[in-house]
Amino acid sequence: MFEIENLLNRRTVKKFSAEKISNDVLDQAIRVAYRAPTSLNSRPVILLDISKHKNEDWINFQPAAQTAPHLFLFAVSPEAGEKNAREFLAGRYGSEIGDERVSATIKKIVAQRDEWARQQAYLVTAYFTAILEASGAAGCIIAGFDKKVASEKLELPDSYTAELIFACGFADPGNDGSVETDFVRKFDDFYFPAD
Ligand SMILES: Cc1cc2nc3c(=O)[nH]c(=O)nc-3n(C[C@H](O)[C@H](O)[C@H](O)COP(=O)(O)O)c2cc1C
Repeated sequence: MFEIENLLNRRTVKKFSAEKISNDVLDQAIRVAYRAPTSLNSRPVILLDISKHKNEDWINFQPAAQTAPHLFLFAVSPEAGEKNAREFLAGRYGSEIGDERVSATIKKIVAQRDEWARQQAYLVTAYFTAILEASGAAGCIIAGFDKKVASEKLELPDSYTAELIFACGFADPGNDGSVETDFVRKFDDFYFPAD
């Protein structure tokens, strides 16, 4: 069901057939995304199925959104992340979330709260997309949209902002609209093994 070969040959697809990804595969991808690494148990990322919004102005100019049967949104809340991290640390210290040791630990580990939360959105997205692509499904990451407008239109929960969208399904066999990265940089210039 999941093949590493599919990932080794992966490419972005921007034109899709109407076929949907099975619920089993989607369920596995969502569960793996949920298990993505998180810092201080902060879990600042949520995943929303926004497929029904694909014809809205804020996203329908994106080629991949036009035919994708599924649109998933990764939204992030630095505020929720800090709250969760504080609860986690308070549990560890047996103290309150506003405790000095809790604040000191957060300060030491979290250089920049927004960036810290966003990094985790990228990780969750990577886990999710890789599982779907390993199954033979395909998609396109979309970062080019107005995040403020999207967050309003989608009526996201308080303090969450839209970060990335994954438009996905199966490549249109006639025209998959794929734009493969030209890997001009050699693999040897990418990976440096231990001496
Ligand atoms: C962070 C990021 C943002 C992207 N945003 C968009 C986008 O807004 N619209 C789009 O059509 N493709 C977007 N893409 C997909 C690229 O266009 C795609 O990776 C490119 O076509 C190369 O194809 P490949 O993934 O097969 O190498 C994005 C990709 C990444 C990694």
